[in-house]
Parts: sequence; C-alpha cells; structure tokens
Amino acid sequence: MSHHPANKVCFITGGSGRLGRALAISLAENGYSVFFTYRSSEKEAGEVLRSVRAHSPESHMARCDVSKVDDIRSAFRTFENHFGRLDLLVASASNFFSTTLPEISENEWDSLVDTNLKGTFFTMQEGASIMKEQPFVSRIITMSDVSANLVWRNFAPYTASKQAIQHLTRVFAKVFAPKILVNSIAPGTVTINPEWNREPDYELARDIPLQRIGTPEDIMEAILFLVRSDYVTGQVVTVDGGRLLN
Ligand SMILES: NC(=O)c1ccc[n+]([C@@H]2O[C@H](COP(=O)([O-])OP(=O)(O)OC[C@H]3O[C@@H](n4cnc5c(N)ncnc54)[C@H](OP(=O)(O)O)[C@@H]3O)[C@@H](O)[C@H]2O)c1
Repeated sequence: MSHHPANKVCFITGGSGRLGRALAISLAENGYSVFFTYRSSEKEAGEVLRSVRAHSPESHMARCDVSKVDDIRSAFRTFENHFGRLDLLVASASNFFSTTLPEISENEWDSLVDTNLKGTFFTMQEGASIMKEQPFVSRIITMSDVSANLVWRNFAPYTASKQAIQHLTRVFAKVFAPKILVNSIAPGTVTINPEWNREPDYELARDIPLQRIGTPEDIMEAILFLVRSDYVTGQVVTVDGGRLLN
C-alpha cells in the first residue's frame, strides 16, 4: 500500500450518500487523501472510490455501520493501517425518515438516534483520540441540519438527534481546544429524497429567501472555509439560503 505523508488526510463517514459522495470527491479534488465509509450502498461506494482515486490514488473506503461502536472502531483501525495522520474528520453518515407522533416505535427511534447521535459521538471520539496525539492542529466537522432549529411535526427523533449533534460539537470544541477545531454545518435542503419528498424544487424554494435549494458546492464552500480558518471553533455554520429567516 502507498503512504503519502505529505498529503492531508480526511476521514468521512457516509461517503456513499448523495451529499456525502460529493463532499468526498470534492475533498480529493482539493488535495486530500480520502478514507470514507459506507454502510449498505456497496455499488455506489465503489463508484465514489473510483472518482476519488482519480484525484488521490491512495484513497480507501471501508464498510461501517456507525450505529455499532465496534464497527466504528474497526473502521478507524483499518484507516490507521493505511494512513499515518488525520487532518479532517467529517461525520456525515445519517439516517433520515419521517416518524409520526405519537406512534413512533422503539425500532424507528433507535434506527435514527443510534445512527445520527450515537454514531456521530463515537466517530468523534475515535477521531479525537487520534488527533489529540498529533503535533499539529486538526479539524472535525459534524453534519447537522437546519431542521434542528425548526419545529417539524413528523421528524422528532431526527431533528432531536441533529440538535444534539450541535451540542456535542460545542462540547468537543471546548474539551479539545486548542488542538482540534470542531464545527458543524447545518445544511438546508440540498438533495431531495424521492421517497419522502414529492414536492418539485420550485415549491420547496418558496420557503427559501434565496429562492433555490442548495447544492453540494454550497456545502463544500463552508467546509473549505472551516478547513482554512484557524480561529473558528464550536460553531454551527448554517447553509440554508436564509430558510431560518422564515
Ligand atoms: N442532502 C440534504 O439535503 C441534507 C440536508 C440537511 C442535512 N443533511 C445532512 O448532510 C449529511 C449528508 O447527507 P446525504 O445527502 O449524503 O445523506 P443520504 O443521501 O441520506 O446518505 C446517508 C449516508 O449515511 C450512510 N448511513 C446511513 N445509516 C448509516 C449507518 N447506520 N451507519 C453508517 N452509515 C450510514 C449511508 O450509507 P449507505 O447508503 O451505504 O447505507 C449514506 O452514505 C447527513 O448528515 C445529512 O443529515 C443533508
């Protein structure tokens, strides 16, 4: 296997996701060696790996269910077999589906909260354990959601877990300062999940002051800001076209 100690190295969970894959490829284009995880979308993950390797041939992927702490730990051990440093951790893996009150089942709750909240926590724990030993400043970016600050009727476990991710971001930022800068990005709607949202783009855009849904490039701009900034930590960068102004 090849080691490129000069390259900055990024670990991203959920690299097979619709936004996650765009971020993984874009980070490779921006000079990062990329290690990403997927859970079940093996075919998509293989395609992402090919695109990522076009820019950074040393990149790797691993299967990992972030709702299982053992899976997270073994993904990080695989990561350490390939790479000798960690500059950026992006915790993007997430589960999203609607749940109607009051009939939310224990399984639905666990599926959403174990992936989004528990998974993000233990991913950050593993990343921070590596980063705190390194002789340079590194960064963690969590993925929240603008809905963490809205009151949606049918997404309580999802939005509660995304709000909790914002809180964890602040705790990690405080505990690991000045060694690790920890921030969160709260996207508005970027991609539409066809299973859950049948509104055409223009109907969604009515609620957005900037009159369009977001793009992966909009989110990547926020990531590039956070990786270049040396004096921002514990913040939530909302990239929502002004949605929260409504
Ligand atoms: N896209 C948007 O419009 C939007 C808006 C607001 C916030 N966000 C946030 O931005 C991030 C990226 O979104 P996205 O569009 O890429 O999401 P997505 O298309 O729904 O993809 C979800 C990703 O998470 C992975 N995943 C799901 N459950 C998992 C588990 N238990 N363990 C490990 N991986 C798991 C999926 O892997 P497999 O497919 O391989 O199973 C996939 O890679 C998420 O945190 C999301 O909440 C996105």
